[in-house]
Amino acid sequence: MNLSDIKQQFTDKLLGIEDEQSLNNLEIEFLGRKGKLTEVLRSLSSLSLVEKKRMGTESNELKEFMEGEIKNQKSKIKIKEYEKIAETEKIDINSNLQLTTYNLQPVSGHLHPLSNFIFKIERIFEELGYEVVEGYDIETDYYNFEAVRIPEDHPSRDEHDTFYIKDLNNPDKKDLLLRTQTTAMQVRYMEKHQPPIKIIVPGKAFRRDDDATHSPMFHQFEGLVVGEGITLGNLKNTLSVAMKKLLGEDAKIRFRTGYFPFVEPGLEVDVTCTICGGKGCNVCKNTGWVELLGAGMVHPEVLKISGIDPEKYSGFAFGTGIERLAMMKHKIPNIKMLYENDIRFLEQF
Ligand code: DAH
Repeated sequence: MNLSDIKQQFTDKLLGIEDEQSLNNLEIEFLGRKGKLTEVLRSLSSLSLVEKKRMGTESNELKEFMEGEIKNQKSKIKIKEYEKIAETEKIDINSNLQLTTYNLQPVSGHLHPLSNFIFKIERIFEELGYEVVEGYDIETDYYNFEAVRIPEDHPSRDEHDTFYIKDLNNPDKKDLLLRTQTTAMQVRYMEKHQPPIKIIVPGKAFRRDDDATHSPMFHQFEGLVVGEGITLGNLKNTLSVAMKKLLGEDAKIRFRTGYFPFVEPGLEVDVTCTICGGKGCNVCKNTGWVELLGAGMVHPEVLKISGIDPEKYSGFAFGTGIERLAMMKHKIPNIKMLYENDIRFLEQF
């Protein structure tokens, strides 16, 4: 058999091969130790030197050709195998594997109920023309206490006992602390802005309390309005509108006198109990009202210390714990449930 016959035979056979095993057999048949090409090479010894050289070169070329063809065919077979697997397993690399296999919709999460509540509060007050301002978790004793009329020996500091932070440059000075109230932002803001002022300050506050309704870290929001001719009537109307939007149209508010050093007069604000709708239940201790906010008219001394003329301007302020509102609205019995990140709890909102 001459080289061109071998090549022809090889090419014909190769065309019909579709699996790896038959390809291996073909390789042995033509290129193996007892293969057709090897046989030809063995017979070269009887040829003349010139013939030997020519045949040698040609058979090498044929060998390379056949090896190349076998390699090509092998990869074609592999590709076909992969395509078959992909076809049966339907792997869709562009989307979620679960989606293709089980045709399930992905489970989408949502914001934490507290974040939702904060955003809702911000939106309500923005609609009423307030600017949302952020304060600092770490405050100075001055803004948190002194400037809002809580000097060092004031009894109300006991309630606010908190976490002090060492200033490494001033180790003896107990000046830095985790703020105990968002009220700390009042003087900070008024020092830099003249009336009209209309801000809301949501943020974290820290105290040493720790029980079912208190956590060492919690959230508050503070409201501050300063301008010419601002009255208690404005405060009442604002809170009345905001609480209805936040807790539902049936929510009503009532004022009782209260004491906070930075307001005069100071007020405790009760809201109709959203659990019983005001009829009376164990949450509201059968009164139909829940104490939710502190508020009042900004103390003239607080305006003065901030560089605002109390003869010309007046203002009101209010502040409340956000967890408390959320617990009330969603009937949550323990504040810790809001921080544990138990998905069974969070899924309910
Ligand atoms: N800062 C007070 C607290 O943490 C709440 C408060 C009361 C804020 C009266 C006010 C206010 O702005 O006028 O208990």
